[in-house]
Amino acid sequence: MTTTSRLDIDALVTALANTCTPLPQARMLPAAVYTADEILALEYRALFARGWLPVACVEDFPAKGSFVTCEIANACILVVRDTAGALQAFHNVCRHRGARLVTEARGQLRSAIACPYHAWRYGLDGRLLSAPQMDVAGQGETLALAGLPLVTQAGFVFVKLEGEAGAPPALPDLSRHGLERLRSVRKLDYTVECNWKIVCQNYSECYHCPGVHPQLHRLSDLSGEGFEDEPGYNGGPMRLRPGFDTLSVSGRSDWARLGPDTASAPGLIHYYLVYPNLMLGIHPDYLLTHRVWPHSSARSRVDCELFVLPQTADARGFDAGDVLDFWDLTNRQDWALCERVQAGVSSLGYRPGPYHPSERCVHAFDRRYAQWLRSALREAS
Ligand code: FES
Ligand SMILES: [Fe+2]
Repeated sequence: MTTTSRLDIDALVTALANTCTPLPQARMLPAAVYTADEILALEYRALFARGWLPVACVEDFPAKGSFVTCEIANACILVVRDTAGALQAFHNVCRHRGARLVTEARGQLRSAIACPYHAWRYGLDGRLLSAPQMDVAGQGETLALAGLPLVTQAGFVFVKLEGEAGAPPALPDLSRHGLERLRSVRKLDYTVECNWKIVCQNYSECYHCPGVHPQLHRLSDLSGEGFEDEPGYNGGPMRLRPGFDTLSVSGRSDWARLGPDTASAPGLIHYYLVYPNLMLGIHPDYLLTHRVWPHSSARSRVDCELFVLPQTADARGFDAGDVLDFWDLTNRQDWALCERVQAGVSSLGYRPGPYHPSERCVHAFDRRYAQWLRSALREAS
């Protein structure tokens, strides 16, 4: 692994400039962005900590006291629905001796958040309620849990670790898809031995599909139509081959369609990568999300989640197996490739290669990342 002391900033900045040129001349990202601990630390500090993080979905919080935790970098975020019905986000750290308050990924609290160490109790709004054998009257606010900015958009809960709320996340226009109506029906979690950006890049192209995903290639054409490249996201639609309803093992579906857009343009699947780490696959009858979280420069967690309309989830005999089996297979095919790339970019022989024209979304992601990293390196120096 490249170490901090060996990182050549000048060479890195030059290499990043080669990614920022138009696609026909551009070269892919240099090895250091996948391997250097210093780059990961900068990403944590200046990309993930300052950006909106998609930590949960609104429907993860059906009742007062419903909570979700999310670990990212050296932080753990606790999101909870308070007694007034509002969503609140906090650092999941006790204000007494710093114990982690909640260790479960999700669940249901009663009326308070209790620290298991010395039994300090906080309201669901974060205020300190009581501390055994201590007079904390009047200190409910000053010893409250550290609150974090939170917004909801398109059914997702976004939290910021640092700074003011500022502008909301820059999502594509998803209103026509009605994503906030959807219900989560299954989650698939993976640990992938690669840098988080390799997962994003892999998601952004289907150049590899004919050889690697015969099951996907049978159902969907390689060529995409249209392309959006915005500061906050990129993406575009792909088309199902004639005779297929959706992406699943069978390619057939009797699930309710998500919205009028897909009814008027049947056979389209809309893929988006919302920077830095939220991937949306809007299929005719379901939404599949991937959220990638760095654990180290060469290890990532990927949370994959399937959403359908309530009438689909509630239908007698509802079975998501046809879709889940398809995506679990496709995901695992992709993770094997991502791990191969990590092995390659970590070895001496790696030289950034050119982009295939169909890798325009990969180039869009890489270019935005390279632009961000160049200015972050300037700011840090
Ligand atoms: S560390 Fe939480 S009550 Fe002491
Ligand atoms: Fe793939």
